[in-house]
Amino acid sequence: ASSTSAADLNFLQCLSHNSNHSKIPIYTPNTSSYTSILQFSIQNLRFISSATPKPQLIITPLHESHVQATVICCRRHGLQIRVRSGGHDYEGLSYVSDVPFVIIELAEYQAIDVDVEDASAWVQAGATIGQLYYRIGEKTRAYGFPAGACPTVGVGGHFSGGGFGALFRKYGLAADNILDACLVNADGEVLDKESMGEDLFWAIRGGGAGSFGVVLSWKVRLVPVPPIVTIFSVVKTLEQGANALVHRWQYIADKLPRDLLNALLIRRANASKESEGTVQATFLSVFQGEAEQLIHIMEQRFPELGVKREDCIEMTYLQSQVYLAEFPIDSPELLLQRNQSRKFFKAKSDYVKEPISEIGLRGLWERFYEIEVPEVIFSPYGGRMGEILDTEIPYNHRKGVIYKIQYLAWWGEKGRKASKKNIDWTRRVYKYMTPYVSKSPRSAYFNYRDLDLGQNNKNGTASYLQARDWGIKYFGNNFDRLVRVKSNVDPDNFFRNEQSIPPVRACR
Ligand code: FDA
Repeated sequence: ASSTSAADLNFLQCLSHNSNHSKIPIYTPNTSSYTSILQFSIQNLRFISSATPKPQLIITPLHESHVQATVICCRRHGLQIRVRSGGHDYEGLSYVSDVPFVIIELAEYQAIDVDVEDASAWVQAGATIGQLYYRIGEKTRAYGFPAGACPTVGVGGHFSGGGFGALFRKYGLAADNILDACLVNADGEVLDKESMGEDLFWAIRGGGAGSFGVVLSWKVRLVPVPPIVTIFSVVKTLEQGANALVHRWQYIADKLPRDLLNALLIRRANASKESEGTVQATFLSVFQGEAEQLIHIMEQRFPELGVKREDCIEMTYLQSQVYLAEFPIDSPELLLQRNQSRKFFKAKSDYVKEPISEIGLRGLWERFYEIEVPEVIFSPYGGRMGEILDTEIPYNHRKGVIYKIQYLAWWGEKGRKASKKNIDWTRRVYKYMTPYVSKSPRSAYFNYRDLDLGQNNKNGTASYLQARDWGIKYFGNNFDRLVRVKSNVDPDNFFRNEQSIPPVRACR
C-alpha cells in the first residue's frame, strides 16, 4: 500500500468501519490535548524535543476492536504503528519513528482482574507494574508477582522483553510467569495462547512483542510471598573499602539463597565545587523473610559487609514494592501514579560470567568522575534464573551468568553538548569493560534497549544478517527461532522498527 496521511478522510472512515464498538478516541496534531497525551509517559527526555518526529495520529483504544481497526487501516494505508504501554523504552521506539506513523497509546487500556483462588491475574497491556502490585496487594497478602522495581514501567513492553526485579532469583522473570496472552496480529485478528500457537506464544514472552503484534492483555501466574519481607541498604565509599567488598560480592551474590536479592547500586557521592567526591556502593538487599534469618545468612555468607540488625527494616511484600519505588512505605496508593520525574538518559548493559579483578573494577570507578551523574547497577543471577533452560523463552541469559550490569548516564540539561558528553561516556565505559564481560556474542538485555548494538534500516526493514548483528546480543541462538516465527506470522513485516525481528523470504 502507498503511504497516506492519517488525517485523510479515507483513513478515518476505515477506522470507523472496522471498529464494531464505540467511537475510537483519536488525537491529531490539531487536537488541543495532542501534545500532553504524546508527552505524558515519555520517560527519556532525549525524545521530547521539537526535532523529534511526531505521530500523525494518536489512538487511545478503549476496546480491542479499536486496536484491530488501527492495525487493519494502517496496513491498508501504508502507515507504521508504534505501540506504547508505559513509555519506558530506552530509545523511545514506542513513540518515535522516522517514517509516517500512528501511535497506539494503551494508557486507557489498564484493567486488572486478580483471581486469588486461581493464583492468577489478567492484566491489560496499558497497566503499569505498580498498578499490578497494588491490585494484587488489595486482594491478598499471600501473593506477589516477579517484575521490576520502577512502578511506572508498563506491562506491555516490560513483560514482552523479560522483566526482572526483587523476586527474579526465586521465580524467574515476569516473562517466565505468563500463562496466556491476547494479541492482535498483522491481519487484525485477536489471538489467545491457543489460537496463536506455541511458537508465537514463545516469541512474545521475552522476544519483544512489538515485532509480532499488539499485546492486549496478559494472564500471569501469581507467586507466593511471605508475611514479612526485610530490606537493608548498606553504603560503603571507596575510602571505606567499597572496592574490595564489590570484588568479594561477585563470589557470593549469585550463590545466596534464592529468597535473597543483594543488588549493588554504584554512584558518585559528596561531589562539590571543591571536591570531585567519591564513589559509593549501596548493597541493597531484599529478603523474602524475617530480619533475624537475614542477619544469620549475611553473617555466614558475607561477614565482611558487617550488616547489623538496625540496618534492617521489616515490612509486608507490598510495602517492599513501595520502598523500592522510593515512596513512604505507608502510602502504597502511590504505586498507582503514572507520572514520575523524568530525565535525559542513555544506558547500556552487560552480562558477567567471570568475576572482575580488583584492578578491573578500579578502572571502572575512575570513570565515575568524568560526568555529573553516572550510575552502575549490578544485579546478581543464580537461583531460579540458572535453572530455567535458555531456550524456554527467547530470554537466554541464564546458567553461568553471575550478574548483569547496567551502565547509566543521567543528565538534566537540554542541548547537544550535554547529550554528546553523556552518551560518549557510556560508550567509553562500555569499551573499557570489553575484556571483563560476556563474549561472542557480547550479550545485552533487550529491555535495556541500546541502538548502538546495531539497527535495522530507518524504515525498520533489515536483512537477516543485518539484524543478526544486534539480535544475537539480545537473544543468542534464540534469534533464529524468532526470525522463523516472524517469517510465519508477519511475512510482510508490518510490525517493524529499528530493532524488530525481520522475516526471511525463504521461510514463506
Ligand atoms: P514502552 O511502552 O516504551 O514499550 C517498550 C517496547 O515495547 C516498545 O518497542 C513498544 O513498542 C513495545 N510495546 C509496548 N507495549 C506493547 C504491546 N502492548 N504490544 C506489543 N508491543 C508493545 N526493566 C526491568 O526488567 N526491571 C526493572 O526494574 C526496570 N526498571 C526500569 C526503570 C526505568 C525508570 C525505566 C525507564 C526502565 C526500566 N526497565 C526495567 C526497563 C523496562 O523493562 C523496559 O523499558 C520496558 O520495555 C518498558 O515497557 P513499557 O511498556 O513501559 O515501555
